[in-house]
Amino acid sequence: MRRLVGETTLRPRQLILPMFVAEGLDAPRPISSMPGVVQHTRDTLRKAAVDAVNAGVGGLMLFGIPAKRDAEGSGAIDENGILNVALRDLRSELGDSTVLMADTCLDEFTDHGHCGVLDADGDVDNDATLRLYAEMAVAQVEAGAHVLGPSGMMDGQVGVIRRALDEVGHSEAAILAYAAKFASAFYGPFREAVDSQLKGDRKTYQQDPGNVREALREIELDLAEGADMVMVKPALSYLDVIKAAADISPVPVAAYNISGEYAMVEAAAANGWLDRERTVLEVLTSIRRAGADLILTYWAAEAAAWLD
Ligand code: PBG
Repeated sequence: MRRLVGETTLRPRQLILPMFVAEGLDAPRPISSMPGVVQHTRDTLRKAAVDAVNAGVGGLMLFGIPAKRDAEGSGAIDENGILNVALRDLRSELGDSTVLMADTCLDEFTDHGHCGVLDADGDVDNDATLRLYAEMAVAQVEAGAHVLGPSGMMDGQVGVIRRALDEVGHSEAAILAYAAKFASAFYGPFREAVDSQLKGDRKTYQQDPGNVREALREIELDLAEGADMVMVKPALSYLDVIKAAADISPVPVAAYNISGEYAMVEAAAANGWLDRERTVLEVLTSIRRAGADLILTYWAAEAAAWLD
């Protein structure tokens, strides 16, 4: 009876697995604050990606960790940069059997850890960053990405990327806009996951956690610039924002169940304080119930297997 009358669905195809690939590793490197998640080598990335696709996930979101960084994040644009190389690996392995997504942001590649380049005063230079995002996006699509995920919260990033792609004939590539991304303490474990060099915070470009009206305005701007899907991030402390986004969005709404949300449940489960599988499925169901069509979650492959 509960199955018959259940309101909210949670299906493997609605889950997107974020994955990390690092340059110059011989073996996968565990991320201590995210038990069960690793920085992959090119080789283990391939295998884990195939396993996730076989488990039924709807897509993969790839992050790259370079061996060397510089002020401009040039490894992000270089066709031999780790993220572009790994995209090529995965596209040749998986073809069109999944939706391959790439993080279109400079923070993993800059030696200061910011999502953009800095001006003479050390502030993030929005418009100079946009020019690099445009080049990065083209490089990622040429490497095999189906979808780009601009996550840097620069003003105008969606429009600039859309135009850059269309100009070189990649009108097929889609944009998943990190539209409402909040300056959150829950990103903590991710900073370890990508060996982030950031000192300070991202409050000049990420949003104030108290602002929902501003989140909707960010979403509207991204839609006007050509976003094909919009994202709210983080998920759990922002379920009301997901709901508000779902109420107004004419395109699919994604939510990112981020590193700190993962770490909290894993830590409690490891202590025997929570039933891990039940908790994970309840968390994911709550994000769907709030209105997210798609969920990026580090549990994607495992949850997909449970749901199958
Ligand atoms: C920035 C980016 C971040 C995450 C995804 N893309 C970190 C940040 O904004 O500091 C966080 C994801 C997570 O915490 O799981 N490129």
